[in-house]
Amino acid sequence: MYNVSVIGGAGHIGLPFSCFMQNMGYNVTIIDTNLTALSQIRSGIAPFFEDGLDMALAKALKNGLNLESTSDNLKQSDYTVLTIGTSSNNKDKKLFRKIVDDLILNSKAGSNLILRSTIDNESFNYLKKNDNLKDKKIKVAYCPERIAEGYALEEITSLPQIIGVENKLDYKIFSKFFEKLNIKTIETSIDNAIFIKLFSNAYRYASFNLINEFSNIAVHNGLDFDEIYNIAKLDYPRLDNAPHVGLVGGPCLPKDFQTFQKNYKIENKLLERFLVTEEYFLENIVKYCKDFFNSNKIIQLGATFKPESDDIRTSTSLAIYKKLQDEGFDVYLVDPHVREESKIKLFNYEDVFNITENVIITTNHKIFLNYDLENKKVIKIGN
Ligand SMILES: NC(=O)c1ccc[n+]([C@@H]2O[C@H](COP(=O)([O-])OP(=O)(O)OC[C@H]3O[C@@H](n4cnc5c(N)ncnc54)[C@H](O)[C@@H]3O)[C@@H](O)[C@H]2O)c1
Repeated sequence: MYNVSVIGGAGHIGLPFSCFMQNMGYNVTIIDTNLTALSQIRSGIAPFFEDGLDMALAKALKNGLNLESTSDNLKQSDYTVLTIGTSSNNKDKKLFRKIVDDLILNSKAGSNLILRSTIDNESFNYLKKNDNLKDKKIKVAYCPERIAEGYALEEITSLPQIIGVENKLDYKIFSKFFEKLNIKTIETSIDNAIFIKLFSNAYRYASFNLINEFSNIAVHNGLDFDEIYNIAKLDYPRLDNAPHVGLVGGPCLPKDFQTFQKNYKIENKLLERFLVTEEYFLENIVKYCKDFFNSNKIIQLGATFKPESDDIRTSTSLAIYKKLQDEGFDVYLVDPHVREESKIKLFNYEDVFNITENVIITTNHKIFLNYDLENKKVIKIGN
Protein backbone atom coordinates (compact mmCIF):
# COMPACT_ATOMS: atom_id res chain seq x y z
CA MET A 1 0.00 0.00 0.00
CA TYR A 2 1.14 3.54 -0.64
CA ASN A 3 2.85 5.92 1.76
CA VAL A 4 0.96 9.19 1.37
CA SER A 5 1.66 12.64 2.83
CA VAL A 6 -1.08 15.25 2.93
CA ILE A 7 0.20 18.83 3.11
CA GLY A 8 -2.48 20.91 4.82
CA GLY A 9 -3.94 17.66 6.13
CA ALA A 10 -5.47 19.25 9.23
CA GLY A 11 -7.79 21.43 7.11
CA HIS A 12 -11.36 21.01 5.88
CA ILE A 13 -10.30 19.19 2.72
CA GLY A 14 -7.16 17.48 3.99
CA LEU A 15 -8.47 15.89 7.18
CA PRO A 16 -11.50 13.96 5.88
CA PHE A 17 -9.49 12.74 2.89
CA SER A 18 -6.55 11.72 5.09
CA CYS A 19 -8.81 9.75 7.46
CA PHE A 20 -10.57 8.13 4.53
CA MET A 21 -7.32 7.04 2.87
CA GLN A 22 -5.88 5.71 6.13
CA ASN A 23 -9.05 3.71 6.75
CA MET A 24 -8.86 2.31 3.22
CA GLY A 25 -5.38 0.93 3.96
CA TYR A 26 -2.97 3.66 2.82
CA ASN A 27 -0.24 4.72 5.23
CA VAL A 28 -1.04 8.42 5.66
CA THR A 29 0.94 11.25 7.25
CA ILE A 30 -0.76 14.58 7.80
CA ILE A 31 1.68 17.49 7.51
CA ASP A 32 0.27 20.77 8.79
CA THR A 33 1.67 23.90 10.41
CA ASN A 34 -1.42 24.45 12.60
CA LEU A 35 -0.17 23.05 15.90
CA THR A 36 -3.46 23.61 17.73
CA ALA A 37 -5.37 21.65 15.09
CA LEU A 38 -2.73 18.89 15.16
CA SER A 39 -3.00 18.47 18.92
CA GLN A 40 -6.81 18.38 18.73
CA ILE A 41 -6.65 15.76 15.98
CA ARG A 42 -4.08 13.74 17.92
CA SER A 43 -6.50 13.57 20.85
CA GLY A 44 -9.32 12.47 18.55
CA ILE A 45 -11.13 15.79 18.24
CA ALA A 46 -11.95 17.09 14.76
CA PRO A 47 -11.21 20.85 14.70
CA PHE A 48 -14.35 21.56 12.61
CA PHE A 49 -17.67 19.89 11.81
CA GLU A 50 -17.94 17.31 9.03
CA ASP A 51 -20.61 14.66 9.14
CA GLY A 52 -19.08 11.38 10.39
CA LEU A 53 -15.59 12.84 10.82
CA ASP A 54 -15.25 12.12 14.56
CA MET A 55 -15.77 8.41 13.93
CA ALA A 56 -13.56 8.32 10.84
CA LEU A 57 -10.80 10.11 12.77
CA ALA A 58 -10.99 7.72 15.74
CA LYS A 59 -10.68 4.80 13.33
CA ALA A 60 -7.84 6.41 11.38
CA LEU A 61 -5.83 7.10 14.55
CA LYS A 62 -6.31 3.48 15.59
CA ASN A 63 -5.16 2.45 12.12
CA GLY A 64 -1.94 4.45 12.50
CA LEU A 65 -2.61 7.89 10.99
CA ASN A 66 0.59 9.94 11.45
CA LEU A 67 0.72 13.64 12.26
CA GLU A 68 3.68 15.96 11.61
CA SER A 69 4.26 19.70 11.65
CA THR A 70 7.21 19.67 9.22
CA SER A 71 7.92 17.96 5.92
CA ASP A 72 11.15 16.31 7.18
CA ASN A 73 9.82 12.82 6.47
CA LEU A 74 8.34 13.63 3.08
CA LYS A 75 11.06 11.56 1.38
CA GLN A 76 9.25 8.39 2.44
CA SER A 77 6.12 9.25 0.51
CA ASP A 78 5.11 7.66 -2.79
CA TYR A 79 2.36 10.24 -3.15
CA THR A 80 2.12 13.78 -1.81
CA VAL A 81 -1.32 15.37 -1.74
CA LEU A 82 -1.49 19.16 -1.52
CA THR A 83 -4.60 20.54 0.23
CA ILE A 84 -3.54 23.95 1.57
CA GLY A 85 -5.91 26.95 1.32
CA THR A 86 -5.56 28.82 -1.98
CA SER A 87 -7.09 31.86 -3.64
CA SER A 88 -6.25 34.42 -6.31
CA ASN A 89 -4.92 36.98 -3.85
CA ASN A 90 -1.18 37.62 -3.92
CA LYS A 91 -0.50 36.49 -0.37
CA ASP A 92 -2.08 33.06 -0.97
CA LYS A 93 -0.39 32.70 -4.36
CA LYS A 94 3.00 33.46 -2.80
CA LEU A 95 2.35 30.91 -0.05
CA PHE A 96 1.39 28.32 -2.66
CA ARG A 97 4.67 28.91 -4.53
CA LYS A 98 6.73 28.62 -1.37
CA ILE A 99 5.00 25.44 -0.28
CA VAL A 100 5.35 23.72 -3.67
CA ASP A 101 9.03 24.69 -3.89
CA ASP A 102 9.66 23.26 -0.41
CA LEU A 103 7.68 20.12 -0.93
CA ILE A 104 9.31 19.34 -4.27
CA LEU A 105 12.72 19.89 -2.67
CA ASN A 106 11.84 17.42 0.11
CA SER A 107 10.06 14.84 -2.08
CA LYS A 108 11.43 11.47 -3.10
CA ALA A 109 12.69 11.10 -6.67
CA GLY A 110 10.08 9.36 -8.81
CA SER A 111 7.23 10.16 -6.42
CA ASN A 112 3.86 11.57 -7.47
CA LEU A 113 2.26 14.88 -6.59
CA ILE A 114 -1.51 15.30 -6.41
CA LEU A 115 -2.70 18.91 -6.42
CA ARG A 116 -6.05 18.93 -4.65
CA SER A 117 -6.20 22.60 -3.64
CA THR A 118 -8.06 24.80 -6.13
CA ILE A 119 -5.48 26.35 -8.46
CA ASP A 120 -5.25 28.67 -11.45
CA ASN A 121 -3.14 28.29 -14.60
CA GLU A 122 -0.43 30.64 -13.37
CA SER A 123 0.17 28.55 -10.23
CA PHE A 124 0.36 25.36 -12.25
CA ASN A 125 2.77 26.90 -14.78
CA TYR A 126 4.97 28.12 -11.93
CA LEU A 127 5.15 24.61 -10.48
CA LYS A 128 5.98 23.05 -13.86
CA LYS A 129 9.05 25.28 -14.20
CA ASN A 130 10.58 23.93 -10.98
CA ASP A 131 13.94 22.33 -11.88
CA ASN A 132 13.80 19.84 -8.99
CA LEU A 133 10.49 18.56 -10.33
CA LYS A 134 12.16 17.69 -13.64
CA ASP A 135 15.39 16.39 -12.09
CA LYS A 136 13.56 14.13 -9.65
CA LYS A 137 11.06 13.00 -12.33
CA ILE A 138 8.12 13.80 -10.07
CA LYS A 139 4.80 13.35 -11.84
CA VAL A 140 1.99 15.83 -11.24
CA ALA A 141 -1.79 15.64 -11.59
CA TYR A 142 -4.44 18.20 -10.77
CA CYS A 143 -7.23 16.34 -8.97
CA PRO A 144 -9.62 19.03 -7.70
CA GLU A 145 -11.76 18.47 -4.62
CA ARG A 146 -15.42 19.12 -5.40
CA ILE A 147 -17.18 18.09 -2.18
CA ALA A 148 -19.81 20.22 -0.44
CA GLU A 149 -18.56 21.09 3.02
CA GLY A 150 -20.30 18.90 5.61
CA TYR A 151 -20.67 16.01 3.14
CA ALA A 152 -16.99 15.27 2.51
CA LEU A 153 -16.91 11.68 3.68
CA GLU A 154 -20.00 10.78 1.67
CA GLU A 155 -18.90 12.63 -1.47
CA ILE A 156 -15.25 11.53 -1.56
CA THR A 157 -16.51 8.25 -3.02
CA SER A 158 -19.85 9.27 -4.55
CA LEU A 159 -18.39 11.96 -6.83
CA PRO A 160 -16.14 10.93 -9.71
CA GLN A 161 -12.57 12.22 -9.40
CA ILE A 162 -11.50 14.46 -12.25
CA ILE A 163 -7.84 13.83 -13.02
CA GLY A 164 -6.07 16.53 -15.01
CA VAL A 165 -2.89 15.14 -16.53
CA GLU A 166 -0.43 15.86 -19.30
CA ASN A 167 -0.39 12.39 -20.87
CA LYS A 168 -1.98 8.92 -20.85
CA LEU A 169 0.80 7.36 -18.80
CA ASP A 170 0.29 9.85 -15.97
CA TYR A 171 -3.45 9.13 -16.03
CA LYS A 172 -2.70 5.43 -15.59
CA ILE A 173 -0.59 6.17 -12.50
CA PHE A 174 -2.95 8.61 -10.82
CA SER A 175 -6.17 6.79 -11.67
CA LYS A 176 -4.77 3.69 -9.96
CA PHE A 177 -4.26 5.74 -6.79
CA PHE A 178 -7.97 6.71 -6.73
CA GLU A 179 -9.37 3.46 -8.04
CA LYS A 180 -7.71 1.54 -5.18
CA LEU A 181 -9.79 3.82 -2.95
CA ASN A 182 -12.96 2.80 -4.87
CA ILE A 183 -13.24 6.25 -6.46
CA LYS A 184 -14.27 6.48 -10.12
CA THR A 185 -12.03 8.68 -12.23
CA ILE A 186 -12.40 10.86 -15.32
CA GLU A 187 -9.41 11.74 -17.48
CA THR A 188 -8.91 15.20 -18.85
CA SER A 189 -6.17 17.77 -19.52
CA ILE A 190 -4.75 20.02 -16.79
CA ASP A 191 -6.26 23.09 -18.50
CA ASN A 192 -9.70 21.49 -18.62
CA ALA A 193 -9.50 20.36 -14.99
CA ILE A 194 -8.63 23.90 -13.88
CA PHE A 195 -11.53 25.31 -15.93
CA ILE A 196 -13.98 22.66 -14.67
CA LYS A 197 -13.25 23.29 -11.00
CA LEU A 198 -13.42 27.09 -11.27
CA PHE A 199 -16.36 27.18 -13.68
CA SER A 200 -18.48 24.84 -11.50
CA ASN A 201 -18.26 27.16 -8.51
CA ALA A 202 -18.36 30.36 -10.56
CA TYR A 203 -21.51 29.07 -12.28
CA ARG A 204 -23.14 28.27 -8.93
CA TYR A 205 -22.16 31.68 -7.57
CA ALA A 206 -23.65 33.34 -10.66
CA SER A 207 -26.87 31.31 -10.59
CA PHE A 208 -27.53 32.11 -6.91
CA ASN A 209 -26.87 35.76 -7.61
CA LEU A 210 -29.09 35.67 -10.69
CA ILE A 211 -32.14 34.72 -8.64
CA ASN A 212 -31.13 37.38 -6.07
CA GLU A 213 -31.00 39.91 -8.92
CA PHE A 214 -34.66 39.15 -9.74
CA SER A 215 -35.44 39.58 -6.04
CA ASN A 216 -33.63 42.96 -6.06
CA ILE A 217 -35.71 44.04 -9.08
CA ALA A 218 -38.96 42.95 -7.42
CA VAL A 219 -38.06 44.82 -4.22
CA HIS A 220 -37.12 47.91 -6.24
CA ASN A 221 -40.58 47.78 -7.83
CA GLY A 222 -42.41 47.37 -4.53
CA LEU A 223 -43.19 43.66 -5.04
CA ASP A 224 -42.85 40.70 -2.67
CA PHE A 225 -40.49 38.30 -4.45
CA ASP A 226 -41.04 35.42 -1.98
CA GLU A 227 -44.73 35.37 -2.88
CA ILE A 228 -43.97 35.76 -6.60
CA TYR A 229 -41.38 32.96 -6.53
CA ASN A 230 -43.71 30.51 -4.75
CA ILE A 231 -46.62 31.17 -7.11
CA ALA A 232 -44.39 31.05 -10.21
CA LYS A 233 -42.92 27.66 -9.24
CA LEU A 234 -46.16 26.01 -8.16
CA ASP A 235 -46.78 23.00 -10.45
CA TYR A 236 -44.58 24.62 -13.09
CA PRO A 237 -41.75 22.18 -13.86
CA ARG A 238 -39.78 24.55 -16.07
CA LEU A 239 -38.76 26.53 -12.98
CA ASP A 240 -37.84 23.43 -10.96
CA ASN A 241 -34.15 24.29 -11.22
CA ALA A 242 -34.49 27.89 -10.10
CA PRO A 243 -32.59 28.16 -6.81
CA HIS A 244 -34.02 29.91 -3.75
CA VAL A 245 -33.19 33.48 -2.98
CA GLY A 246 -30.54 33.59 -0.26
CA LEU A 247 -27.09 34.49 0.91
CA VAL A 248 -24.14 33.43 -1.25
CA GLY A 249 -21.02 33.01 0.85
CA GLY A 250 -18.59 30.46 2.20
CA PRO A 251 -15.00 29.47 1.63
CA CYS A 252 -15.41 28.41 -2.02
CA LEU A 253 -18.00 30.11 -4.24
CA PRO A 254 -17.02 33.80 -3.96
CA LYS A 255 -13.31 32.94 -4.02
CA ASP A 256 -13.52 30.62 -7.02
CA PHE A 257 -15.75 33.14 -8.82
CA GLN A 258 -13.01 35.74 -8.42
CA THR A 259 -10.26 33.33 -9.44
CA PHE A 260 -12.25 32.35 -12.53
CA GLN A 261 -12.54 36.00 -13.57
CA LYS A 262 -8.84 36.66 -13.06
CA ASN A 263 -7.76 33.44 -14.76
CA TYR A 264 -9.57 33.82 -18.08
CA LYS A 265 -9.95 36.44 -20.77
CA ILE A 266 -13.59 37.50 -20.50
CA GLU A 267 -15.14 39.56 -23.28
CA ASN A 268 -18.14 41.14 -21.60
CA LYS A 269 -18.88 42.35 -18.09
CA LEU A 270 -21.85 40.08 -17.31
CA LEU A 271 -20.13 38.09 -14.55
CA GLU A 272 -18.61 41.17 -12.93
CA ARG A 273 -22.09 42.60 -12.41
CA PHE A 274 -22.99 39.80 -9.99
CA LEU A 275 -20.78 41.42 -7.36
CA VAL A 276 -23.06 44.47 -7.56
CA THR A 277 -26.11 42.18 -7.25
CA GLU A 278 -24.75 40.84 -3.99
CA GLU A 279 -24.12 44.33 -2.63
CA TYR A 280 -27.71 45.44 -3.48
CA PHE A 281 -29.12 42.24 -2.04
CA LEU A 282 -27.46 42.90 1.32
CA GLU A 283 -28.43 46.58 1.24
CA ASN A 284 -32.07 45.58 0.64
CA ILE A 285 -31.97 43.33 3.69
CA VAL A 286 -30.69 46.17 5.87
CA LYS A 287 -33.27 48.56 4.39
CA TYR A 288 -36.03 46.05 5.12
CA CYS A 289 -34.83 45.74 8.73
CA LYS A 290 -35.07 49.53 9.10
CA ASP A 291 -38.66 49.56 7.77
CA PHE A 292 -39.95 46.44 9.50
CA PHE A 293 -38.42 46.58 12.96
CA ASN A 294 -39.67 49.05 15.54
CA SER A 295 -36.38 49.67 17.35
CA ASN A 296 -32.66 49.47 16.73
CA LYS A 297 -32.23 46.26 18.72
CA ILE A 298 -32.11 42.99 16.76
CA ILE A 299 -31.48 39.38 17.66
CA GLN A 300 -29.67 37.79 14.70
CA LEU A 301 -29.89 34.01 14.42
CA GLY A 302 -27.05 32.45 12.44
CA ALA A 303 -23.44 33.43 11.77
CA THR A 304 -22.08 30.54 9.72
CA PHE A 305 -22.06 30.54 5.94
CA LYS A 306 -24.61 27.75 5.66
CA PRO A 307 -26.97 25.73 7.86
CA GLU A 308 -25.59 23.00 10.17
CA SER A 309 -22.01 24.16 9.51
CA ASP A 310 -19.61 25.73 12.03
CA ASP A 311 -17.66 27.51 9.28
CA ILE A 312 -17.70 31.31 9.40
CA ARG A 313 -15.19 31.85 6.57
CA THR A 314 -16.55 34.46 4.12
CA SER A 315 -19.96 34.11 5.75
CA THR A 316 -22.56 36.49 4.33
CA SER A 317 -24.48 36.22 7.61
CA LEU A 318 -21.50 37.91 9.22
CA ALA A 319 -21.45 40.51 6.44
CA ILE A 320 -25.07 41.34 7.33
CA TYR A 321 -24.16 41.46 11.03
CA LYS A 322 -21.48 44.05 10.29
CA LYS A 323 -23.73 46.06 7.96
CA LEU A 324 -26.51 46.19 10.56
CA GLN A 325 -24.04 47.41 13.18
CA ASP A 326 -22.68 50.03 10.77
CA GLU A 327 -26.25 51.27 10.33
CA GLY A 328 -26.60 51.79 14.09
CA PHE A 329 -28.37 48.58 15.13
CA ASP A 330 -27.50 46.79 18.38
CA VAL A 331 -27.22 43.23 17.14
CA TYR A 332 -27.29 40.23 19.48
CA LEU A 333 -25.78 37.42 17.46
CA VAL A 334 -26.81 33.86 18.32
CA ASP A 335 -25.27 30.76 16.77
CA PRO A 336 -24.78 27.60 18.81
CA HIS A 337 -22.86 25.98 15.92
CA VAL A 338 -19.97 28.45 16.04
CA ARG A 339 -17.01 27.15 18.02
CA GLU A 340 -15.71 28.92 21.12
CA GLU A 341 -12.30 29.54 19.47
CA SER A 342 -13.88 32.05 17.09
CA LYS A 343 -13.47 35.64 18.18
CA ILE A 344 -17.08 36.63 17.50
CA LYS A 345 -19.21 37.92 20.35
CA LEU A 346 -22.11 35.51 20.66
CA PHE A 347 -25.15 35.29 22.94
CA ASN A 348 -27.48 32.54 24.12
CA TYR A 349 -31.00 33.03 22.79
CA GLU A 350 -32.51 32.65 26.29
CA ASP A 351 -30.27 35.44 27.59
CA VAL A 352 -31.33 37.98 24.97
CA PHE A 353 -34.89 36.74 24.42
CA ASN A 354 -36.47 39.59 26.42
CA ILE A 355 -34.34 42.39 24.99
CA THR A 356 -36.32 42.80 21.78
CA GLU A 357 -39.06 41.30 19.65
CA ASN A 358 -36.99 41.89 16.48
CA VAL A 359 -35.41 38.75 15.05
CA ILE A 360 -33.59 38.18 11.78
CA ILE A 361 -32.70 34.62 10.77
CA THR A 362 -29.71 34.68 8.43
CA THR A 363 -28.55 31.05 8.63
CA ASN A 364 -31.35 28.50 8.83
CA HIS A 365 -29.90 26.01 11.33
CA LYS A 366 -32.42 23.31 12.28
CA ILE A 367 -32.01 24.16 15.97
CA PHE A 368 -33.70 27.53 15.41
CA LEU A 369 -36.97 25.66 14.72
CA ASN A 370 -37.05 24.90 18.47
CA TYR A 371 -36.68 28.55 19.45
CA ASP A 372 -39.70 30.40 20.77
CA LEU A 373 -40.45 32.99 18.07
CA GLU A 374 -44.16 33.24 18.70
CA ASN A 375 -44.41 36.88 19.69
CA LYS A 376 -41.47 38.02 17.63
CA LYS A 377 -41.29 40.11 14.49
CA VAL A 378 -39.23 37.80 12.26
CA ILE A 379 -37.35 38.35 9.01
CA LYS A 380 -36.08 35.10 7.49
CA ILE A 381 -33.51 35.10 4.70
CA GLY A 382 -33.49 32.10 2.37
CA ASN A 383 -35.20 28.77 3.00
N1 LIG B 1 -13.75 23.87 2.14
C1 LIG B 1 -14.37 23.38 1.07
O1 LIG B 1 -15.57 23.03 1.12
C2 LIG B 1 -13.62 23.13 -0.25
C3 LIG B 1 -14.26 22.41 -1.26
C4 LIG B 1 -13.56 22.13 -2.43
C5 LIG B 1 -12.27 22.62 -2.58
N2 LIG B 1 -11.66 23.36 -1.61
C6 LIG B 1 -10.28 23.83 -1.82
O2 LIG B 1 -9.42 23.03 -1.02
C7 LIG B 1 -8.29 23.78 -0.57
C8 LIG B 1 -8.22 23.72 0.95
O3 LIG B 1 -9.34 24.35 1.51
P1 LIG B 1 -9.74 24.11 3.03
O4 LIG B 1 -11.12 24.64 3.19
O5 LIG B 1 -9.45 22.72 3.42
O6 LIG B 1 -8.69 25.10 3.76
P2 LIG B 1 -8.27 25.02 5.29
O7 LIG B 1 -7.79 26.39 5.62
O8 LIG B 1 -9.37 24.42 6.10
O9 LIG B 1 -7.04 24.00 5.31
C9 LIG B 1 -5.77 24.33 4.88
C10 LIG B 1 -4.75 23.75 5.84
O10 LIG B 1 -3.43 24.03 5.32
C11 LIG B 1 -2.60 24.27 6.44
N3 LIG B 1 -1.38 24.96 6.03
C12 LIG B 1 -1.19 26.27 5.74
N4 LIG B 1 0.11 26.49 5.43
C13 LIG B 1 0.75 25.30 5.50
C14 LIG B 1 2.08 24.88 5.28
N5 LIG B 1 3.02 25.74 4.93
N6 LIG B 1 2.38 23.58 5.45
C15 LIG B 1 1.44 22.69 5.82
N7 LIG B 1 0.15 23.04 6.06
C16 LIG B 1 -0.19 24.32 5.89
C17 LIG B 1 -3.48 25.08 7.40
O11 LIG B 1 -2.97 25.04 8.71
C18 LIG B 1 -4.82 24.36 7.25
O12 LIG B 1 -4.96 23.32 8.19
C19 LIG B 1 -8.51 25.20 -1.11
O13 LIG B 1 -7.82 25.32 -2.32
C20 LIG B 1 -10.01 25.25 -1.36
O14 LIG B 1 -10.33 26.18 -2.37
C21 LIG B 1 -12.30 23.61 -0.43
